[in-house]
Amino acid sequence: MGEEMENNSINTNSTTGDEKHQPAEDGDVKYYTRKQIQAHNMSKDAWLIIHDKVYDITCFLEEHPGGEEVLLEQAGSDATESFEDVGHSTDAREMLEQYYIGELHEDDRKRDCKKEVYITTSKESSSWSTWLIPAVAVAVVGFMYRYYMLEHKSS
Ligand code: HEM
Repeated sequence: MGEEMENNSINTNSTTGDEKHQPAEDGDVKYYTRKQIQAHNMSKDAWLIIHDKVYDITCFLEEHPGGEEVLLEQAGSDATESFEDVGHSTDAREMLEQYYIGELHEDDRKRDCKKEVYITTSKESSSWSTWLIPAVAVAVVGFMYRYYMLEHKSS
C-alpha cells in the first residue's frame, strides 16, 4: 500500500519492475526512481545509473570487456563511481547511448552539496573582530606611548 502510494505519487512515465520499458525515442524522457531501478538487478534484467541517467545493460552483460560480474554487482544501483574509477574510454562512453532508457527521477538525485556549502567556522564575528582587535591594540600602544612620554618629560 505504502509502496503503491509512493509510486503513484511520482507522476512520470515510469514503469514498475515487471513492465517492459520502451526507450525514449520521441524526446519524451522517462524518469525512474531508485526504487524502481533497484528491481532490475539480475542477469536477465539489469539496469544501471550512471551520471543520473538510466541504462538497460541486459544485452550488454556478456559483451562487456571488463566482464559480466562487475556489471552484475552494480546492477540496480548507481554505478557512476565504479564506471569513472575504471577510467573508461570515449568509446565506452559512446556505447552507453545504446543502452539509455531514461533519467533518474529528480527527487532521487544526489545534490552536489559542495557548491552550496557555506563555510561557517567560528568566524561569524570575523567581520568586526578583524578590525576591532588591531584597533584596540593600536589604542593601547598609543596610550602607553603617551604615558611613557609624559613620564619622561616630567622627570
Ligand atoms: C554500460 C556501462 C558500461 C559500458 C558501456 C562499459 C564499457 C566498457 C568498455 C568498452 C571497456 C573496454 C575498455 C574501454 O574502452 O574503456 C570496458 C572495460 C572495463 N569496464 Fe566497463 N563499461 C560499463 C560499465 C562498467 C562498470 C559499471 C564497471 C565497474 C563496476 C566496469 C568495469 C570495467 C572494467 C574493470 C574494465 C576492464 C578495464 C581494463 O581491462 O583495463 N564497466 N568497459
